Amino acid sequence: MHKFILLVYRWQIYNFFFIKTLKQSSFLSKKNIYLLAIESSCDDTSAAIIKDGEIISNRTANQDIHSIYGGVVPELASRQHLSNIIPVIDTCLKDADIEVGDLDAIAFTRGPGLLGSLIVGVSTAKGMAMALDIPLIEVHHMHAHVLAHFATENKPPFPFLCLTVSGGHTQIVQVNSFTDLIILGTTIDDAAGEAFDKTGKMLGLPYPAGPVIDQLAKEGKNVYPFPEPQVTDLDFSFSGLKTSILYFLQKETKNDPDFIKNNLNDICCSVQTTIVEILIKKLIKASKKTGIHHIAIAGGVSANHFLRQRLIETGENLGWQTYIPPFSLCTDNAGMIGITGYYRYLEGLFSDQSVTPLSRMEF
Ligand code: KG4
Ligand code: ZN
Repeated sequence: MHKFILLVYRWQIYNFFFIKTLKQSSFLSKKNIYLLAIESSCDDTSAAIIKDGEIISNRTANQDIHSIYGGVVPELASRQHLSNIIPVIDTCLKDADIEVGDLDAIAFTRGPGLLGSLIVGVSTAKGMAMALDIPLIEVHHMHAHVLAHFATENKPPFPFLCLTVSGGHTQIVQVNSFTDLIILGTTIDDAAGEAFDKTGKMLGLPYPAGPVIDQLAKEGKNVYPFPEPQVTDLDFSFSGLKTSILYFLQKETKNDPDFIKNNLNDICCSVQTTIVEILIKKLIKASKKTGIHHIAIAGGVSANHFLRQRLIETGENLGWQTYIPPFSLCTDNAGMIGITGYYRYLEGLFSDQSVTPLSRMEF
């Protein structure tokens, strides 16, 4: 009897470790890590699936409705996010050939952005995470633009500098690690993307005007000099440029009402050259100041052909290693949110269900 109890006891211990090992090995072998990422900070509704740190699907529903208004109308943006978000997530899961139950975590843009737009993405992420009982990972939209480089073959080593230029931000960021990013310079008024978009409005171009100006500038010459702002250190300013473009156009159209129509390509080329040279000069200054020669660009304006060309030329002259994201990762997309979320997942940086969207969010 005594021997039998001992046998049962040993069998139980054996079983315990056997099942535990089985569980551990299935956990280790299961497991590709699948993240769903959601981005809804402005006017693009986007979802992506990240498998072990790689984007395997990335879908964005753009909102054309704003183009006729010359800018994003927040109320319309939130309503469009509401109708787009579930179909976009659904398509994304299908593209990736996985089920919702395969997900290990949900990353989402917490801010900065339009509050009404953010609420849709944040609520969807929270609802799904609660139903699936998986972690929630908040992501800073501007970190994500920078870390989009880690979804490419050409990954920059730490530390590197990143010029992040979008519709709402213009920043030079020193990136020390996936979670240690420091702003060295920022705009004191308008962002570079805003300078493109507001110029486009004056020229009668549709919103967003950045890509249109980029195209028209290819056929034009840099013949109209605009003054560059004198801003100290690594900060930027674009509102003075906007005013001088306005005065210039008012003066010229007084003399010739068809001035814009007849000189559109040259105006676009001149404005674009001015904006890009301002950005490149500050990057040179930042590299000299920090001694960092790995230089990246990111954000919607990094899709600009002339900026990309000038970065490559400057890099060749100054011995920089340059990092330029593919066009698909320049403008807002959930892939970049997912990549950032993946590195936060590895560090266990999770949020709980009390997390709220932030229109302004500390970097
Ligand atoms: O990063 P993004 O998609 O959204 C924000 O977070 O703001 O950037 C949008 C901005 C808009 O201002 C748009 O005009 C600008 O990026 N943009 C461009 C180009 N493509 C997008 N600006 C200049 N040249 C481009 N090719
Ligand atoms: Zn953005």
